[in-house]
Order: sequence, then C-alpha cells, then structure tokens
Amino acid sequence: MSFMQIKNLKVHYPIRGGFFNSIIDYVYAVDGISMEFEKGKAYGLVGESGCGKSTTGMAIIGLEKITSGSIMYEGEDVTNLRRKRNNLFNREIQMIFQDAHSSLNPRKRVEHLLAEPIRNFLRVSPKEEQKKISELLEIVGMPEDAKLKYPHEFSGGQKQRLGIARALATNPKLIIADEPVSALDLSVQAQVLNFMKDIQSEFGLSYLFISHDLGVVKHMCDHISIMYKGRFVETGTKEDIFTNPHHIYTKRLLSAIPNVSPKGREKRKRERIIVEKNYQTELKNYFDHNHRVLDLAPLSETHFVAIANGVSVRGNNS
Ligand SMILES: Nc1ncnc2c1ncn2[C@@H]1O[C@H](COP(=O)(O)OP(=O)(O)OP(=O)(O)O)[C@@H](O)[C@H]1O
Ligand SMILES: [Mg+2]
Repeated sequence: MSFMQIKNLKVHYPIRGGFFNSIIDYVYAVDGISMEFEKGKAYGLVGESGCGKSTTGMAIIGLEKITSGSIMYEGEDVTNLRRKRNNLFNREIQMIFQDAHSSLNPRKRVEHLLAEPIRNFLRVSPKEEQKKISELLEIVGMPEDAKLKYPHEFSGGQKQRLGIARALATNPKLIIADEPVSALDLSVQAQVLNFMKDIQSEFGLSYLFISHDLGVVKHMCDHISIMYKGRFVETGTKEDIFTNPHHIYTKRLLSAIPNVSPKGREKRKRERIIVEKNYQTELKNYFDHNHRVLDLAPLSETHFVAIANGVSVRGNNS
C-alpha cells in the first residue's frame, strides 16, 4: 500500500512580457505527472537538464506553487499546504537539495544547522537536542567536533553528508534527494550512494532519487520514471526499464550510457546508431504535433509508456 499519491501534478511558470508586462505564455515545467510511494522503496526520476525534475521535488515539499493536480499523504489532501511547523507531512517528507553548498547557511555552525529542523519539528529538551545532533553526526560518519565548524570547513562529500544529516533529523519517511552526488568525485559518489542505501534499509526510508544519470538510478532505485519536457515518457520497475524499454527516448538514454568494458563496445555502437535512426523516423508515434509527450498507456501492471494507440513497439533487442 502506498502512503503518498501524486495525481496529475502540474507546475506552470508564467512568462511575462509586452507593454503591460502581462502573461504572454507559460513554461510547462511539470505538465501532468502521477506517482505513488511505498514504504522502504526507492523511486528514480531521470531526464535531461531542464525537464522538470527539481521543480517536481520542490512542488512536492511545498517550495513551488502547484498549478493543478493533487498530493495525498496518509489519506489527507496536502496539495499546496502552507508550510506550518509541526505539520506531519512537512516533518516526514524531507529534501536533500541539488546544491549542498548553498543549501547550508555559511554563517551558522553545524550544531545550529542540525538543531534547526529538530527545533522546528520535534519537541525536545536542550540536552536531548544535543544528544540527537551527536547521533546524527555519528549516523553520517562525521566526528563529534564537526559540531563547532562552519560549512566552508568541509569537503564536497562531507557537506553532502551534512545535508543528509539535516534531512534525517526529523525521522522522515520519504527523502527527496535532488542530484545528491552529481557534484562529487566518482569515488566519493559511490561512498555517499552506498551510505544512502545503508540508512535506507536501517530506517525503512523511501527515496525519490532525482538524477540525470541512469547508472546511478539503476544502482539505487526499485522503480524508475523517465521524464521529458515536464512529462513521463515511461515508468516501470528497474527491470521494465532496463530490460524492456519501449519509448524511443528511453532507448536513446540507455544507449548513451558509456560502456566501460571493451567487450561489446562495437555492438553497443551499432545499437546506438540504430536507435538514433529510429528516433528520427518514429517521432510521430511518441509525440503529438506540438512535440508534447503523449499520455501513458499500460504495458503491464507496473510498466507504462507514452505511445500512440495501436502502434506496435519493438523492444530494445529488436
Ligand atoms: N522560477 C522559475 N521561473 C520560470 N521558469 C522556471 C523556474 N524554475 C525553473 N524554471 C524552468 O522550468 C524548467 C524545469 O526546471 P528544473 O529546474 O525543474 O529542471 P531540472 O530537470 O531539475 O534540470 P537540471 O537537471 O538542470 O537540474 C526549465 O525549463 C526551467 O528553465
Ligand atoms: Mg534540477
């Protein structure tokens, strides 16, 4: 059973212009997406830069205004809920921001940065607060003396861990992690990702894992949604997406994953050329005349793809 359901979420930004600075058009940043979240599962949101991933995350936690659609949490409608303290939804859904550096106030010591969410959402004594801060630092593998330092005194990976500690402070159910490792070196990336997996099973957390990197999402997620221009082109389990992709855009993303082993490199190159050719000739089956992604249609109980009615699609291996 899912604890949160998002239905037909839209976030449109007005573009103003002309003599009266009136609204002349909209940016359809998020344009009708639906998702459900189950306990302990990780959901991936993948797509190219500007396709609406961060806007989706921000809209869910209430930092962007929702144009239409609904968010239900534990049976309650929380769409556009004002960010009130002590509100269960705000406490249990936390976000790790795309830019760890600027999401931590440079003038505040770590102690203060971690105390903030605890004070906002949990009623604890000053002594318990100190204990909780030490616990959080321990969970993310930072020494006790980190408490007295400022954000600039940490490396990129350490700052990312502080962002995770802050998100964990309120015992959340769901963490929205927006490109949590994309600014890090490969070796540190793996460290942070594995760490996030460990705490996931320890605390039964769910993740909405936002990334433009399909490899990272494959490592982390049970369920994957591929986003293009504010809409989902395909959603399914990790197996659905990786072994049986149907949308031409998904195939294109998959074929673009670099192949590290020389074995099969030639074969992949040939596949990439075929996918690229099909992309050009088959566009009309996947987009309407405004190049808007079509509505999702079911292929199985878990697998959905945005494809024209009646078009028979070939799997990846054809
Ligand atoms: N405040 C805003 N006003 C107007 N347009 C915006 C605003 N914020 C984002 N956009 C536009 O909405 C679209 C989606 O932006 P978003 O930040 O969600 O992309 P993203 O998928 O997170 O990209 P990236 O991978 O680069 O982080 C973009 O076209 C962006 O220019
Ligand atoms: Mg983003």
